[in-house]
Amino acid sequence: MKRPLTVIANWKMHKTRHQAGQFIKTLETLIPCNHSDILIAAPFTALETCLNERSGLTVGAQNVSEHTQGAYTGEVSAGMLADLGVKFCLVGHSERRMHFHETQEQIGKKVKRCMEQGIHVVLCIGETFEEKKHGLTHKVLFHQITSALSGLEAQDLSNLSLAYEPVWAIGSGYAATAVDVQEVHASCRHFIKKNWGEKIGESLKILYGGSVNGHTLGPIICSYDVDGVLVGTASLDPTEFANIIKISRELKS
Ligand code: PGA
Repeated sequence: MKRPLTVIANWKMHKTRHQAGQFIKTLETLIPCNHSDILIAAPFTALETCLNERSGLTVGAQNVSEHTQGAYTGEVSAGMLADLGVKFCLVGHSERRMHFHETQEQIGKKVKRCMEQGIHVVLCIGETFEEKKHGLTHKVLFHQITSALSGLEAQDLSNLSLAYEPVWAIGSGYAATAVDVQEVHASCRHFIKKNWGEKIGESLKILYGGSVNGHTLGPIICSYDVDGVLVGTASLDPTEFANIIKISRELKS
């Protein structure tokens, strides 16, 4: 099955409103942006600026509260994001699991809060180097998927993508090999099919993230079960990010 390509920039805690606006203006001069295949996960403070650019890029958040509303100082709800016009949200990124001790339970709630508001979820999963070394990759990933998606029906998953991001590959300069990525993606797809049905498993987009750049991208994006990439460091520079989009579009067309 041919699944549409998705390339996501994860800016993490980078870019002021001015820098975000400049990035989008520059990107538009480098590549056609009137496609829904380019997504920008911006910091909360730059979301409105990105949306106001009216660029054809899809704009999303990097995090959301697991609560709907209330006395949760500093939190941002899915309803607030939807009100801004935000279309998608990263959930369960390993930096949030690691530095902010996000639990599987919180991640599951965040997935549901987004879905209630019609916000597309990009669920990030990934194993640590220790877990990989001990042959636990599949066990860890299947557990992360099961706990984040518990109680959801197949139709709910039509508003979700998976992003496989091995923790050891993020920001390290060492991307996983294309062979390993294909194998992991195929087994995650198989797991989804087994638990939620053949149809949703076949159409579900599975992205790869972790040290993706112009050099590491080629063999990975060519793999059958890789439907796109989630790019951190290399998404901060518009020229580098445009190059990643160009290569991805060429190799996936
Ligand atoms: P990286 O980050 O591309 O800098 O490895 C990817 C991510 O954390 O989403």
